[in-house]
Amino acid sequence: MSLADVYIFAGPPGSGKGTQAKLLAPKLKVPHISLGDLLREAVRGGTKVGQIAKGYLDAGRLVPDNVAIDVAEEAVKKEECRKGFVIDGFPRTLEQAVLFEGLLERLKFNLARVLYIDIPLKEILKRLTGRRSCRKCGAVYNLMYNLPKIEGKCDICGGELYQRRDDTEDVIKVRFKVYEEQTSPLMDYYTKKGKLVQIDGTKDVQEVFKEICKAVGA
Ligand code: AP5
Repeated sequence: MSLADVYIFAGPPGSGKGTQAKLLAPKLKVPHISLGDLLREAVRGGTKVGQIAKGYLDAGRLVPDNVAIDVAEEAVKKEECRKGFVIDGFPRTLEQAVLFEGLLERLKFNLARVLYIDIPLKEILKRLTGRRSCRKCGAVYNLMYNLPKIEGKCDICGGELYQRRDDTEDVIKVRFKVYEEQTSPLMDYYTKKGKLVQIDGTKDVQEVFKEICKAVGA
C-alpha cells in the first residue's frame, strides 16, 4: 500500500506560504490546512484554544507547542485528509516537528517535501503591511501586488476585507525574530532528512508556483 503524501509549507511570515498552499492543494486535489487560520478561527469563536492563543497571536509569538500540536492533530485526523494534505505554518519548532513526524507515522502518511519559501525582511514588511484578507472566505489580497476589483470587498464572495491585527510593523518584526530564533533551525533539520526544497519567494506568485510544481512533480 502506498502512503498518502504530505507537503509542508515553511518560511518566514509573509513569504507566501498561504498563497502557494492555496494554489497547490487544489492542483493535488487534497485539503489545505493553515495553522494560523485555525488559530484565528478559534480566537473568533472564543473557544478554549482561542482564549489561550489570542495573546500570543496579537503579540506575534508562537502559541505553546502542546496547543499547536493538538490543533494540528485534530485537523489531520479528519476524513478529508485521508488521501494526503498540504499544511502551512506547522511545524514551527523542533518539538513540533518531532511530534508531527510520530503522528504522520502513526496515521500512515508520507512526508513528501518541505517547501521552504525564502524572502528577505524588507520584502516581508512591504507585503504584510499591504495584506488584506476576506473575513468571509479567507481570500488574501495585497494593496501593492494584488488589489481587489472593488476597494474593501472580496472579488470571490463580496465579503469585507480587513487587516490582520498582527500585520503592524512592530508585530511583523517580532514575528520575523521569532521565526529566525525558533523556526529557521528546522530548515537544517529537514535538509538533513533530505526533505527540504528551497524556493525563491521573491518572484511573482505564478513564477513561484511554477517552481513549486516542478519541485513536487505536479
Ligand atoms: P500565520 O497565519 O501562519 O502567520 P505567518 O507564518 O506569520 O505567515 P503569514 O500568514 O503572515 O504569511 P504567509 O507566508 O502565509 O504569506 P501570504 O501568502 O499570506 O500564523 C499567525 C500566528 O499564529 C503566529 O504568529 C503564531 O502566533 C500562531 N501560530 C501559527 N502556527 C503556529 C505554530 N505551528 N506554532 C505556534 N504558533 C503558531 O502572503 C503575504 C502577502 O504577500 C499577501 O498580501 C499576498 O497577497 C502577498 N504575496 C504572496 N506571495 C507574493 C509574491 N510572490 N509576490 C508579491 N506578493 C505576494
